[in-house]
Amino acid sequence: MRVGVPSELKDNEYRVAITPAGVRELVVAGHEVIVEQGAGTGSSIQDAAFENAGAAIVPDADAVFAGADMVLKVKEPIEEEFHRLRDGLILFTYLHLAASEAVTRALIESGTTAIAYETVELPDGSLPLLAPMSEVAGRMAPQCGAHYLERENGGKGVLLGGVSGVRPARVVVIGAGMAGQNAAWIAQGMEAEVIILDKNINRLRDVDRIHQGKIKTLASNRLSVEETVTAADLVIGAVLIPGALAPKIVTEDVIKEMQPGSVVVDISIDQGGCFETSKMTTHSDPTYVVHDVVHYCVGNMPGAVPHTSTYGLTNATLPYVVDLANKGVKGAVADDPALGLGVNVYQGQIVYEPVAEAHGLESVELQDLL
Ligand SMILES: NC(=O)c1ccc[n+]([C@@H]2O[C@H](COP(=O)([O-])OP(=O)(O)OC[C@H]3O[C@@H](n4cnc5c(N)ncnc54)[C@H](O)[C@@H]3O)[C@@H](O)[C@H]2O)c1
Repeated sequence: MRVGVPSELKDNEYRVAITPAGVRELVVAGHEVIVEQGAGTGSSIQDAAFENAGAAIVPDADAVFAGADMVLKVKEPIEEEFHRLRDGLILFTYLHLAASEAVTRALIESGTTAIAYETVELPDGSLPLLAPMSEVAGRMAPQCGAHYLERENGGKGVLLGGVSGVRPARVVVIGAGMAGQNAAWIAQGMEAEVIILDKNINRLRDVDRIHQGKIKTLASNRLSVEETVTAADLVIGAVLIPGALAPKIVTEDVIKEMQPGSVVVDISIDQGGCFETSKMTTHSDPTYVVHDVVHYCVGNMPGAVPHTSTYGLTNATLPYVVDLANKGVKGAVADDPALGLGVNVYQGQIVYEPVAEAHGLESVELQDLL
């Protein structure tokens, strides 16, 4: 198979979907790899490193999309890439289709087979290709929150860890999955007072076992959310219902009750966001203010730390990439049902029900098409 890797076009997105180690694995397995010139520069990977591992460098994204059987990306295609999608192409990337009807329709109309990193799901319910980026976003969230809590950045002027004799910031994390647990852990390491909420008590048991009371756990329900959020300096939203739009856990009325200069970081924004007042922002304009509360809602947080993120992501995706290249979509999915759950659109037809539901479209069973 010929595997193509273009540069990412999203605002301030410096990750790339493959490393020289990945090129080497594919080439040794008998595949060709074409990489757009400069695609790795933002992650400190030079063209020569890709070439030395066996890739061919091509001048632009058109050459990558036109020449490849399978395109690897990091983020969903943006509008200016839609015309490059085509019948028979396999696209393997983060897609977050429930949050974007435009991308969903572009994939359907082009006849692309689109496999979403974020819905590949192991039998225990874990999401192996979302996990590394959730880990990054989770670890970044307290750092971003601390920055925007500073007065000159619009915040109320509270230092996350406080000082001796002065209370630390109150940090509330909603969702105790990969992103949420990492966020709580870093915030606690910065010596904030941290409460984490989840509907799944087993997730809270994990937190308790690991942190032994240093991070407080609370069952998530309307009242616990209202009480903790209105008393918080920083709220980090990290809930997920796989493949579906995020539930709006924090209403605008609750945001109104927060103290002026408080900060919310909505990690779940890539699935639509879990605060009623959230709207997607970018690294070049990351925040806005609603009811005197600073909102940070960047949809590609890991893009800010591309070196760490590129290696973290490709360590996880590579085994699936090699499988897809070796066996094609049909063969790889037949051998690995976890990868099958990643297929959102098969040859232009939606096969992942939550995406169809989000846009009022029809879905079909993947098995019926294979
Ligand atoms: N913005 C970014 O740059 C970025 C980067 C990586 C991940 N993400 C997003 O972060 C979100 C979290 O990802 P994850 O890997 O941590 O998911 P996860 O599945 O590991 O955890 C999600 C948690 O949310 C909980 N949850 C679901 N509904 C809830 C509710 N009503 N109340 C409380 N908890 C609830 C689940 O029980 C689960 O523990 C996803 O939307 C993911 O796409 C965003």
